[in-house]
Amino acid sequence: MRVGVLTGGGDCPGLNAVIRAVTKSLIHHGHCEVLGIADGFEGLIGEAPRTRPLGWEQVSGILHMGGTLLGTSNSANPMKDAATLAQVGKNLLALGLDVVVAIGGDGTMSIAHGLGQRLGLACVGVPKTIDNDIALCERSFGFDTAVATVTDALRRIESTAYSHHRVMIVETMGRHAGWLALEAGIAGAADVILLPEIDYDLQTVIERCREREQRQRYTIVCIGEGAKERGGSLTVRERIAHSPDPVRLGGVGHVLREQLQPHLASEVRATVLGHVQRGGDPTPFDRVLATRFGHHAARLVTQGQFGRMATLQGGQIGSVPISEVANTQRKVPLDHELIAIARDIGVCLG
Ligand code: F6P
Repeated sequence: MRVGVLTGGGDCPGLNAVIRAVTKSLIHHGHCEVLGIADGFEGLIGEAPRTRPLGWEQVSGILHMGGTLLGTSNSANPMKDAATLAQVGKNLLALGLDVVVAIGGDGTMSIAHGLGQRLGLACVGVPKTIDNDIALCERSFGFDTAVATVTDALRRIESTAYSHHRVMIVETMGRHAGWLALEAGIAGAADVILLPEIDYDLQTVIERCREREQRQRYTIVCIGEGAKERGGSLTVRERIAHSPDPVRLGGVGHVLREQLQPHLASEVRATVLGHVQRGGDPTPFDRVLATRFGHHAARLVTQGQFGRMATLQGGQIGSVPISEVANTQRKVPLDHELIAIARDIGVCLG
C-alpha cells in the first residue's frame, strides 16, 4: 500500500513521535510505502503536490523533538472552492495514495471527513491538540506537555506576584474549551480559574481578589482564552477568511486586567503565554501516548479500517468513526470532577 502522512492544524509536542511510530509500524509490519505530505493539506493544494518519501532513516532520532518535521498549516482549506477541490483530487490520483493518515485536531478531522465524502479519499485520523477538545477522545497528545508548560509558568508568576503583592493574570490557549486552563490552574495552584464553559461574574472575581488583598496580598488568576464575562463577548485576536478555524482568540487576560484594576488596591498585570504552550519537547507521557496512537493508526491502515480516528477512552486505545468527530468539539462538562474539586478546595471559578 502507498500511504500518505500529514500533520494539520496548529503544531504541538508529540507530532514527530506519531510520525515516527506510524511510519516505522507501516514499514516494519505493513510493508507499506510511506510518503510525507508537506504542511498539512496545504501540500496537496496547487499544481505540484509537495511530498517526500519517509523511510526508517527519515523518522529516526525524532521521538523527543517538538514541532513537526513535515510542517503544518492551520489555514489550508482544500475545500475552499470547486477549483481547489478539483486540483486536490487530481493530485491525489497522481500520487496514487491508497490512504492518508491525518494527524490533527477537529479542523483536520473535518477536512478528512469532507474529502472522504467529496473525493472518496480514504483517511485514518490521529488526535492531536494542546486544547484536548477532540470529541470522543479523553486525551489528545500534546496536552500533557502544554499543562506542564503552563503549570511551570504559573509557579514562576507566583514568585513575582507575592514579591510585588500583585494580582497576576495568566492567559492560556485552549480555544473554546477550558481543559488547559483548568488542569494547569489546579496543578499551578491558581486562586481563580476562569473557563470558556463558565461565563464569569466580574463582581465575584473582584471580591476574591479583595479578600486575598487582606490575607495573602497576592492573587493568581488563570484564564482560558475563550473565557468571557457573563453577558459579554469573546475576545477575538484575528479573523482568517476560508480557514477551517476562522476565529483566532486571544487577549481576554488584558480585558480582565482593565476590568479589575479600578476596583483593586493592588496592581494588576496580565501575561498571555501564547505559543510557548505549543513548543518544546513532549513529556514522557505524550511520547508514549503519541507512539500508541501512531502504532494504532498503522494497524487501522493495514486492516483497511478507513474513515476511523485512533482514540483513547477509559485509558484504552481504540478507534471511532471520523464522521462522529468532525465539526464538533469536546468542552469541559459542568459536572466534571475537577470543577467540583476546584470549588471544594476554594478556587474561585468566577
Ligand atoms: O488549537 C491550538 C491553538 O494553539 C489554540 O489553543 C489557539 O487558539 C490557536 O491554536 C492559535 O492559533 P495560531 O497559531 O494561528 O495563533
